[in-house]
Amino acid sequence: MTNRIVLAYSGGLDTSVAIGWIAAETGAEVIAVAADVGQGGEDLEVIRRRALDCGAVESVVVDARDEYAEQYCMPALRANALYMDRYPLVSALSRPLIVKHLAAAARTYGADTVSHGCTGKGNDQVRFEVGIAALAPDLKVIAPVRDSGMTRDKAIGFAEERGLPIDVTKKSPYSIDQNLWGRAVETGFLEDIWNAPIEDVYSYTDDPSVQRAPDEIVLTFVDGVPTAVDGRAASVREVIEELNRRAGAQGVGRLDLVEDRLVGIKSREVYEAPAAIALITAHQELENVTMERDLARFKRGVEQRWSELVYDGLWFSPLKRTLDAFVEQSQQHVSGDVRLTLHGGRAVVTGRRSDESLYDFALATYDAEDEFDQSLAKGFVELWGLPSRIAARREQRARG
Ligand code: ARG
Repeated sequence: MTNRIVLAYSGGLDTSVAIGWIAAETGAEVIAVAADVGQGGEDLEVIRRRALDCGAVESVVVDARDEYAEQYCMPALRANALYMDRYPLVSALSRPLIVKHLAAAARTYGADTVSHGCTGKGNDQVRFEVGIAALAPDLKVIAPVRDSGMTRDKAIGFAEERGLPIDVTKKSPYSIDQNLWGRAVETGFLEDIWNAPIEDVYSYTDDPSVQRAPDEIVLTFVDGVPTAVDGRAASVREVIEELNRRAGAQGVGRLDLVEDRLVGIKSREVYEAPAAIALITAHQELENVTMERDLARFKRGVEQRWSELVYDGLWFSPLKRTLDAFVEQSQQHVSGDVRLTLHGGRAVVTGRRSDESLYDFALATYDAEDEFDQSLAKGFVELWGLPSRIAARREQRARG
């Protein structure tokens, strides 16, 4: 029986050429698997057929938009996940979902190998291969772009020689990866990190410096997950899509960052993630209102570690799964409404309300209704400062 290889297929030049390239190099049959994670752009049926035209024996497109929104974006939101305090993990979140579908397709079609079109310089090769190792340790992985000399020029030559149905002249100056949670753009003139991004780089967001009326939005959360926009119930995917439109129209969620890749390189990436940034902003504030102080403080460390693990390709690792359980448990009172003003590239919280609120007006107020017993503070402060006072006395003694 001929060996079979499942390829993570995007419809672009590299993975289209990879179909024939892999077949020629290995003699195996190639099964193309594409996932719809809300990247938009080309019709996925066109992409599915293109894989067949490029020589795949089977071609599957999975509509994974709801799955991606619910099982990948929402854990990230509950963890307020921002790598290096800024990047909402757009690409890092989609890879484990794709990996899951690759592993499932390998079983369905009796393949013993999976393949991806990543280079050897990025994070995504790690996310694919470590993900496969965790879900299906018996599967082999091949990476033609990284391991068998499939450079861009050779890919174009290969496509022309075989008359593959892809427009090789349609070469964007950028490398782009996009999905529901945002969009990442790199290479081209952005590789000079002094060069400012131009408007042409962006597509999820409008120019935040243009004068326009602000947009006010109320987001409802139940246990850390958004369930309604402006009082209208919506699925998680619908909430993300609406926010990408509305926050994107106000230029919210642009970021320009030199980041630390897992392979050790520092690289410059421009992101736009209007829904992710608006949602995280609202969710963090709802936690401020509903989460007990020590839990909230501890969670910040968990959030950072969670983000690093996901960035580093360890979505399916024991530590990441265990931190998920912590984060999930932490969300049990994170319910209520947050009002945001979207304007000038920013999502600003202007109001919050919750039946689970820990904000107590009678304790917080400086008005006559004040119920806080200030006389208790005197002894508290005295004891709180006791270790510092004792240590300071020792310093005084030492100085003589
Ligand atoms: N640097 C981001 C990450 O590793 C995005 C990677 C894909 N970027 C791209 N422009 N193709 O998660």
